[in-house]
Amino acid sequence: MSELTETEKEKAKKYYPLPALAEKARIQNMDAYFEKWKYSVENFEEFWAEEAKMIDWFTPYQKVWQPPQGEQDEFVGKWFVGGKLNVTYNCLDRWIEKGYGDETALIWMGEDDSVKKFTYKSLTDEVNKAANALKSLGVKKGDRVCLWLPMIENLAIVMLACARIGAIHSIVFGGFSAESVKDRIDDSECTILVVADEVRRAGKNRPMKDNLKGIIDTCDSIEHVAVIKLTGGDVYEYEKDVDFLALMEEQSTTCESEPMDAEDPLFILYTSGTTGKPKGVVHTTAGYLVFGVSTNYYVWDYSCLLDLKGDTPANRDVWYCTADIGWITGHTQIIYSPMALGAVTIMYEGVPTWPHGGRFWEICEKFGVTHFYTAPTAIRALMKLGDENVTKWNLEKLKMIGTVGEVCNWPEWKWYWDVVGKGSSGEKPIGRPIVDSYWQTETGSYMMVNLGAVTPMKPGSCTFPYLGINPVLLDEAGSKVETPNTQAYFAYDKPWPGLMRTVWGDHERFVNTYLAQFPGHYFTGDYAQIDDEGYYFILGRSDDVIKVSGHRLGSAEVEAAINSHPKVAESAVIPYPHPVKGSTIFAYITLMNDEDASDEMKKVIQKHVRSVAGPAVYPEIIMFATAVPKTRSGKIMRRILKAVAEQKDIGNTMTLANPEVVEGLITRRQMMGEIQF
Ligand code: WT7
Repeated sequence: MSELTETEKEKAKKYYPLPALAEKARIQNMDAYFEKWKYSVENFEEFWAEEAKMIDWFTPYQKVWQPPQGEQDEFVGKWFVGGKLNVTYNCLDRWIEKGYGDETALIWMGEDDSVKKFTYKSLTDEVNKAANALKSLGVKKGDRVCLWLPMIENLAIVMLACARIGAIHSIVFGGFSAESVKDRIDDSECTILVVADEVRRAGKNRPMKDNLKGIIDTCDSIEHVAVIKLTGGDVYEYEKDVDFLALMEEQSTTCESEPMDAEDPLFILYTSGTTGKPKGVVHTTAGYLVFGVSTNYYVWDYSCLLDLKGDTPANRDVWYCTADIGWITGHTQIIYSPMALGAVTIMYEGVPTWPHGGRFWEICEKFGVTHFYTAPTAIRALMKLGDENVTKWNLEKLKMIGTVGEVCNWPEWKWYWDVVGKGSSGEKPIGRPIVDSYWQTETGSYMMVNLGAVTPMKPGSCTFPYLGINPVLLDEAGSKVETPNTQAYFAYDKPWPGLMRTVWGDHERFVNTYLAQFPGHYFTGDYAQIDDEGYYFILGRSDDVIKVSGHRLGSAEVEAAINSHPKVAESAVIPYPHPVKGSTIFAYITLMNDEDASDEMKKVIQKHVRSVAGPAVYPEIIMFATAVPKTRSGKIMRRILKAVAEQKDIGNTMTLANPEVVEGLITRRQMMGEIQF
């Protein structure tokens, strides 16, 4: 056997959390974890009943889990049947009733350094005003409300206001386009759109509402556009506009929280799949909340009002998740789970690199952050800026750090461990644990994750299943793959309360996408493998989903945006490795007339896509092609396109309908030379 390189030796080691963390942990060692996990999957109803005690119910549920009865609730069943509750009662009122009204609930910081600290009382007042304002606009329980907002405190307030009155929020990431807002509004027939006049980004005001001009008028279900005047900029006005902050000021600070059925939808969040149309992932009230609370409680172990672990309410741990609320991470890990646990949660308006590259760590010092959660793409961006951006800040309060969204690979893992985690090297490296959490929009919260305080880590591994979760690796035929280091399809063989219930308006799509491929299982769409110690490694998507900076994009959606340019005949997009974004979009484009192919044309198409789909969707690399390889049934052969782009062996082209195009693509790719970022 050949000698291991230094890097391989380092990677092959296990890394250990600082031992002091285990002493106060809720699960104190790995034996206790394995025992609890075994119990939880063998007795999953009893286990989830225990977890559900962390929630306050208006009416107790009668049955923890009702198995699927027929097609409408295949696999997932119903959870906490008959229970009534309200998520905001759990996030706000119950802490006030226990005497914590003046304690900090949420700390919001703006790009301009302004800070707004909300106590449970002051946040409840704002939420109630917003809830009453929504009611005054005719919003009722079950109505859908679309929120297209930057990371301002009112995003948190309005989403909680929806939950308070039982309206279903559908939050659209600010980096998507007005067109994509329209598609989402139309799909779930939202009656209200809440939007800001402008966005503050890296010191400039940028348009937001203006982008809706001519688009919002075509959304038939919209009754009011609730405008949040953030910058006061001069923006286009629409007859259905309402000045939402002014309306809020007229409202009372009292609004009872609506008793919701356990299975009532809490929100819809659209996510990309394999077709051009995003899926409206539906999460419910009780199951989602119980799962979010349980996962955060055991994984991070922070002190919170539910369990102060010896801290005083004022000295609780401080939780900072850097995600945008437009993604599931923001929903579950900035707002609902930490707040329902009574944790201090931080929300920051801006980007990590402005006004300087140490912004995250500045926030950590300023608010005494103890638990910090970000994405590998952010780590890669920051590590390039130099260690002094981190080391100049006082991070002594920091106990645990974490990541989500894609694999945290060795270079960024190592940097995170050394520079932020203050991890030691040597035979048994010890430092601040890096929580590698693997989950999806669909799963509600963490599925595969290390318990920060106790699980020995392996770089790039999300380690072991969360309690109550039973992962399985399957081959094409659906048989279990138990051999270590063998790539397989990654699925779960048991439902859990936080699993999505349906795709809004298209239950069949839910069943076909997640449940049909491996009957009796939920299929993630990812590949994974275990090593010989049972550690799980996620190997990436098995479908056409592309992750750019951890953001999930569907290739068909990007292609639709490219194809909508009049000069484009056809396109095919694939992920291409990028040093910071993980992957970037590589687009093969066939023009109506190949003679138009020029660098100028590339820019025109890029600009077009930005305006149609939003800045989050950017075809960074374009290669013109006279045709793309397809199967005889007309399916684009992305495997071959990936090989051509990365200048790798293209393998077998026998199944192609048009194998002759491949040579031409290889030649054009060679002419592009090395791609620089
Ligand atoms: C996909 C889900 C869950 C919040 C953010 C992303 C990939 C996510 C990890 C991880 C390796 C990961 C998977 C998954 N992914 N976390 N820790 N290690 N891959 O949510 O947009 O729904 O994307 O992200 O491919 O299927 P999402």
